Amino acid sequence: MSYNIALDGPAGAGKSTIAKRVASELKFIYVDTGAMYRAMALYMLNENVDLSDTKAIAEKCKSAEIEIRYTDGVQCVFLNGENVNDKIRTPRVSDAASKTSVVKEVRVILVKLQQELAAKTDVVMDGRDIGSKVLPNAQLKIYMTASSRVRAERRYKELTEKGEKCELDQIEAEIKERDERDMNREESPLVQAEDAILLDTSDMTIDEVVEKIISLKETN
Ligand code: DC
Repeated sequence: MSYNIALDGPAGAGKSTIAKRVASELKFIYVDTGAMYRAMALYMLNENVDLSDTKAIAEKCKSAEIEIRYTDGVQCVFLNGENVNDKIRTPRVSDAASKTSVVKEVRVILVKLQQELAAKTDVVMDGRDIGSKVLPNAQLKIYMTASSRVRAERRYKELTEKGEKCELDQIEAEIKERDERDMNREESPLVQAEDAILLDTSDMTIDEVVEKIISLKETN
């Protein structure tokens, strides 16, 4: 049986950085489920679908072919045969993903893909509903969070390092808006699963968080 680590939490909590490191140390596969929702959102944007029209999204998502492949351990998301890794990290796609991921039909398609991956391999999977919905039987569940200011500072650093111009206050406001939407939607809202371990990373270094998760796995 495969070993599954579910890592949930709000935007900017550091999930992907941590999940990648933990996966690499444990020789597990890292599954970034947010990237799948982002690829789906990109598809809706490309197809000019009105993002306030849930019926249109529910219909259109059936024709999106989303696939995950690994090249040298790096997850690549393919949308209708094209590697879209470089196109899904923009603020426009972040916003669209938060809107399109509320649609049940979108979630049904992507959750199935996520469950198939986890059934056949040891994974560290990050997202919003992994411990509560996608992998309810995961052997280890972590709910990772940090204050909205700390999360905004991390995103700000990431974006400015890439040469993008941005405002810290605006990033924090966007993060709060996404939290609000992710936590209050009807379909699979972001919640801490009952059996998940809470990790507040506001005052922790990346190394400390990675070590903590690995020690939790060892003692689990
Ligand atoms: O983790 P991220 O920022 O790349 O996620 C992008 C959006 O996708 C986010 O607004 C919430 C949504 N998402 C989700 O609903 N369920 C998941 N398992 C992962 C992401």
